Amino acid sequence: MADFWQMVEFSHLLMSRQISKGAIVIDATAGNGHDSLFLARIVGEDGKVYSFDIQEKAIANTARLLAEHHLLDRVELIKDGHQNLDKYIKKEIDGMIFNLGYLPGGDKEITTRKDTTITALEKGLKLLKYGGIITMVVYTGHPGGREELEAILALVDGLDPHIYNVLNYKFINQKSAPEILAIIRRRAEERSS
Ligand SMILES: C[S@@+](CC[C@H](N)C(=O)[O-])C[C@H]1O[C@@H](n2cnc3c(N)ncnc32)[C@H](O)[C@@H]1O
Repeated sequence: MADFWQMVEFSHLLMSRQISKGAIVIDATAGNGHDSLFLARIVGEDGKVYSFDIQEKAIANTARLLAEHHLLDRVELIKDGHQNLDKYIKKEIDGMIFNLGYLPGGDKEITTRKDTTITALEKGLKLLKYGGIITMVVYTGHPGGREELEAILALVDGLDPHIYNVLNYKFINQKSAPEILAIIRRRAEERSS
């Protein structure tokens, strides 16, 4: 049974409500592959996951996990920054998942960064289909994490409410816990339904 008090699992719940079989999705930060594995399962055999990471170790860990579950064929692993996603993906996407910060078990100095995260989010928003979703799990405990969160909040705060629903999910009483941002793109005419 999933534990929805865990932010990553809650982001998966939100994602699984919007994404169906055959979907095209992006894992912006492959890391140890847990999000890619989750996405590979929900998109089914006709779907596709593009997974980015700048670290060889993360790409290798993700490939190993997917291979163990016989799901590697649904995932394209890309060793490049998510800020370059438009070099690889030209079509619309149904969803995108960000799990920011550093690689668990890896080098804590290599983290996602404010500027590249914002570029990737802007590019992801341009590709996002109506009904599509972007979730971001954002950590603030490491250097630069708070600034990264503030930059993301500033960007999503300015998104047209006629087109996007934006949710900020966080613990009120645990200041250092990660937060979730979830952005759902809607058609303007659906907004009052
Ligand atoms: C918290 S981990 C991701 C965890 C992963 N989603 C999982 O399920 O295990 C963050 C990852 O972001 C990666 N990263 C940092 N900057 C990046 C960038 N510009 N583009 C893509 N990945 C990046 C790091 O190398 C690290 O592996």
